[in-house]
Amino acid sequence: MKTLNVQLGARSYPIYIGSGLLDRSDSIRPHIPGRQVLIVSNDTVAHWYRDRLEQALHGLEVDVALIPDGEAHKTLETCNGIFGALLERRFDRTCTLVALGGGVIGDIAGFAAACYQRGVHFVQVPTTLLAQVDSSVGGKTGVNHPLGKNMIGAFHQPLCVVADTDTLSTLPDRELKAGLAEVIKYGLIRDPEFFSWLEEHLDSLLARDNEALAFAIERSCRNKADVVAEDERERGVRALLNLGHTFGHAIEAGCGFGTWLHGEAVAAGTMMAADLSVRLGWLADAERHRAGQIFSRAGLPVHPPKDMSPDAFRRHMSVDKKARDGRLHLVLLRGIGEAVLSGDVPSSHLDATLRATIAAA
Ligand code: NAD
Ligand code: GLY
Repeated sequence: MKTLNVQLGARSYPIYIGSGLLDRSDSIRPHIPGRQVLIVSNDTVAHWYRDRLEQALHGLEVDVALIPDGEAHKTLETCNGIFGALLERRFDRTCTLVALGGGVIGDIAGFAAACYQRGVHFVQVPTTLLAQVDSSVGGKTGVNHPLGKNMIGAFHQPLCVVADTDTLSTLPDRELKAGLAEVIKYGLIRDPEFFSWLEEHLDSLLARDNEALAFAIERSCRNKADVVAEDERERGVRALLNLGHTFGHAIEAGCGFGTWLHGEAVAAGTMMAADLSVRLGWLADAERHRAGQIFSRAGLPVHPPKDMSPDAFRRHMSVDKKARDGRLHLVLLRGIGEAVLSGDVPSSHLDATLRATIAAA
């Protein structure tokens, strides 16, 4: 088992990464302060892992709330169902919510924990690659609104993150690939050495080689933990973790939540950001090509949906948490491993990117 730490003073916490962690009562249990535990999951994940998690929490008062599976259910309504479950079972302020599942479960359960009785404990047990490398770390929680992705939320850090790499064995291929988009993201943003490693080992990751996956998860979490420790509330450098997300969130909302997977939208969105970076003269075409190659090899889309118009992009992109005073702020690339946030991209360049990348789809 590898242990990394997210250094946030009194809110610091460990990330445990390894095989067989779900069966170890010494990974999660010592972090749970009270007796009442609500596991939040869905049928898909609970089918595989609920019993083992309940076993690891043996001796505590454990209840389970199963919510519908899928991004389309990452809503306030679903969250309200969790509040109902907590109230019906008389859960008090000492309770802990344990998120067992992918990023959707983690984001909703974390948000419910942030809101219930003004904040209760929560633990992340991520079971998708995407959740193990990104969403379970850093304390961003929330739900979608029909008008915008992740628009309702809170920062609320977990007590610990327990990433059992064995759970990835049941993950569908499409979901594994979607998770690789966020792994590749770290290389592009701030870790060129990792990007080169990914170019070399991508086939092993796609073949689910345990050693390669464990390395990629650890390296990704290390990158994320460092950024979060520096800028927990996204006042600066943390925004760079959103490479490809302004375009990607527009794709997710524009196509209907759940049609494109988050990681798929991030891959296509990153290539749109790369196109814009090349137009601005910031990124060499050869580097854009390297980015496109690795996403393609991972089986991820490198173009936006062809039936989404530039107008639709603009409309959805205007609802972005990085926007300030009506101005878009986009994460762009100056090279592999060097992302920058820009608030003054000329509208003509953005238009050209939207038209060209949609036309190429
Ligand atoms: P997801 O949670 O929808 O999970 C993908 C699918 O895999 C679901 O059907 C799920 O039931 C299933 N699944 C999960 N674990 C499984 C397993 N081990 N075996 C078999 N099936 C399994 O999707 P995701 O990609 O994990 O997360 C995407 C979400 O994460 C998006 O809503 C995105 O906005 C959010 N996100 C949040 C952050 C953050 O910092 N909070 C960061 C990145 C992404
Ligand atoms: N996924 C972006 C962030 O956590 O900041």
